[in-house]
Amino acid sequence: MAPVTSLTASVHQRLADALAAALPEVPAADPLLRRSDRADFQANGILALAKRTKTPPRELAERVTGAVTAGDLLAGVEVSGPGFLNVTVTDRAITANLAERAADPEGRLGVPFADRPGTTVIDYAQPNVAKEMHVGHLRSAVIGDAVVRMLEFTGESVVRRHHIGDWGTQFGMLIQYLIEHPHELDHKAPGSAGSAGSAGSAGSAGDEASGEEAMSNLNRLYKAARALFDSDEDFKARARRRVVDLQAGDAETLALWQKFVDESKIYFYSVFSKLDMEIRDADVVGESGYNAMLEETCRLLEESGVAVWSEGALCVFFDDIKGPDGSPVPLIVRKSDGGYGYAATDLSAVRDRVFNLKANTLLYVVDARQALHFRMVFETARRAGWLGDDVTAQQLAFGTVLGKDGRPFKTREGETVRLQDLLDEAIDRATAVVREKNSEKVALSEDEIVANGAQIGIGAVKYADLSTSASRDYKFDLDQMVSLNGDTSVYIQYAHARIRSILRLSGDARPVAHPELALAPAERALGLHLDGFAEAVTEAATEYAPHKLTAYLYQLSSLYTTFYAECQVLSAANAPEVVENRLFLCDVTARTLRRGMALLGIRTPERL
Ligand code: ARG
Repeated sequence: MAPVTSLTASVHQRLADALAAALPEVPAADPLLRRSDRADFQANGILALAKRTKTPPRELAERVTGAVTAGDLLAGVEVSGPGFLNVTVTDRAITANLAERAADPEGRLGVPFADRPGTTVIDYAQPNVAKEMHVGHLRSAVIGDAVVRMLEFTGESVVRRHHIGDWGTQFGMLIQYLIEHPHELDHKAPGSAGSAGSAGSAGSAGDEASGEEAMSNLNRLYKAARALFDSDEDFKARARRRVVDLQAGDAETLALWQKFVDESKIYFYSVFSKLDMEIRDADVVGESGYNAMLEETCRLLEESGVAVWSEGALCVFFDDIKGPDGSPVPLIVRKSDGGYGYAATDLSAVRDRVFNLKANTLLYVVDARQALHFRMVFETARRAGWLGDDVTAQQLAFGTVLGKDGRPFKTREGETVRLQDLLDEAIDRATAVVREKNSEKVALSEDEIVANGAQIGIGAVKYADLSTSASRDYKFDLDQMVSLNGDTSVYIQYAHARIRSILRLSGDARPVAHPELALAPAERALGLHLDGFAEAVTEAATEYAPHKLTAYLYQLSSLYTTFYAECQVLSAANAPEVVENRLFLCDVTARTLRRGMALLGIRTPERL
C-alpha cells in the first residue's frame, strides 16, 4: 500500500502552492507550518518572505489566503497578528486520513519507509566478560535496542554488534588462577555453557538462577585471582606468561579463556532476558573477534604515516587534542610492550564494518565519557581512508545514571548496583501497583498480575531511560518510574489497556470511521495527533532520538484521557454512527500506542 500522506504534509503542500502563486519571484518559498493551539496549524513563514520581497506582511498574507485551494482539506485560512496564517482542516479530512492509516494492511499505520535506506551497524549492549554489568550497560542496551527497532521499522538494514570486552591482560591472571584452582567455575547443576540466551517473555526462572550463579562464580574467582596477583610475585609472573600464551593462541589457554566467555554469556543473557530483549549469539562479536586484523591495522596505519612510533608505542597524534599540561595526547594503537589495546580493536572493527559489512552508518551507543576515544578513532579512520565521505560514524553518547542524591548511581557502600537486583525491585514495585489497581471489573488472576508486573516494571525502567534525551544524565528513581501519573510508561500502558477494555465491552458495535460526522474539540485534537505518528517515528528514527517518540506517545495518552473524559464512547444517548466513530478513534489510538511502545521495546498488556 502507498504510504498515507499526513495532514501536515497535505496542508504544507496547499500553502506552498498558494505561496508560489502569490510570490512567483521566490521559488520554493517555505510557509513554515507548525501545529498550533490556536488553530490546527499556523504558518509562520510569511513575515520573513514579506521582508525579503519588501511587501507589507498582512498584504502578502491576504494574497496567499486568496490563492489557497480549500477543497475537502481546509476549513479555513485566516490572517492573524502581523501576518501569521491560522489554518483549520475539515473534520472530514481528519477522519478520512485516519481511516486510511487504519486500513494499512501491514499494520504500519501508514508510516512510510525511508526514501533511501542504507546499512547501519550499531554497536550496543557491550558488557565485559567476567565483570558485573552496571547501569551504563543497561543504558546502552535499552537505547540501542530502541534505535534498532525504530531503524528497522523505517526499512534500514541493521547489523547489530555487541562489542563485549572479552580480551586483555586481566585474562592471563584469571586463566592462570583457574588452572591452579580447576573447579572454581563449576555449576552446582550442570550448566549449559555456550548456549544462546532465550528471548521473548520477561525473565524465565531457570535462566535467571544459572545467570546469577555464573556471575557469583566469576566474581569470587576474580577477587581471589586479584588478591593472589597483588600479593604473590610468582603468581604474577605466571599470570604474565599466560597472557603471552593467550595472545599466541595456545590451545589450552584459549579453551580456558572460552570458559570465561561462555560463563559470562550465561550471565549476560539472563540479564538481557529479564530485560525482555533479544540478543543473538551471532551478533556478539567481542574485542577478541578482531584479533586476526590487529597486526594489519597497525601496519596500514604505519605505512600510510597516519601512525608514528613514539616512546616505543605506535601512536596517532592530533593537533587539537592536548592534555592539561599542553602536551599532545595520542591514540595508542600498539603499546610499548607490544600489546594491542582498545583503540586497535575499534579501528579494526571500523574496517570490518565498512569493508565487510558494507555499512553506510556506524553507530556506537556508548557512555559519553568515551567521547574522546571515539573522536580519535573516527579521525584516525578518516585519515587512513577507511571512513570515506559516504560513511557516517557517530557515537550516540549517553549520560550518567544518577542516584536520587544526584551522584553517580552506586550502592550505599559505593559499589556498583547489581542489575538483577535493580530490575527485580522495579518488577516488585510494578507488581504491587498492578495488584493494588486490580479492580473487580478487571479481575486479573495471580498469574496475570505477575506477568503484567514484569512487563510494567521492565517497561518503567526502559521508558525512564528513553524519555530523557540520551546525552543527558538522568536520575534512577523507581518511585517516579512506576507512578501512574506523569510521563511514565505505566501511564501509557494503562491508557492502552483502558482502550482495549472499551473495545472488548463494545458488544455488537464495531469501530467504523464516519468522515461525514462533525467532531468535538477533543476528538479533533486526538485525531490530529494520531495523524502525526509517521512524522514522530521518522524524526525519532533519523535523529536516533527515542525521547521524541516517548514524548509523542505520552501526549497521545493525555489527549486520549481528555477525549475519554469529554466524549462518551459507549453511551446509549449516542447515535450508532457516533459510537462507531468514537470506537474507531479508540482503536486507532490503541494501535498507535501499541506500535509506538513496541518500537521502544516496551510491551502493552491487554488487561490491567
Ligand atoms: N565494553 C565497553 C565498556 O564496558 C563498551 C564497548 C563500546 N564499544 C566499542 N566499540 N568500543 O565500557
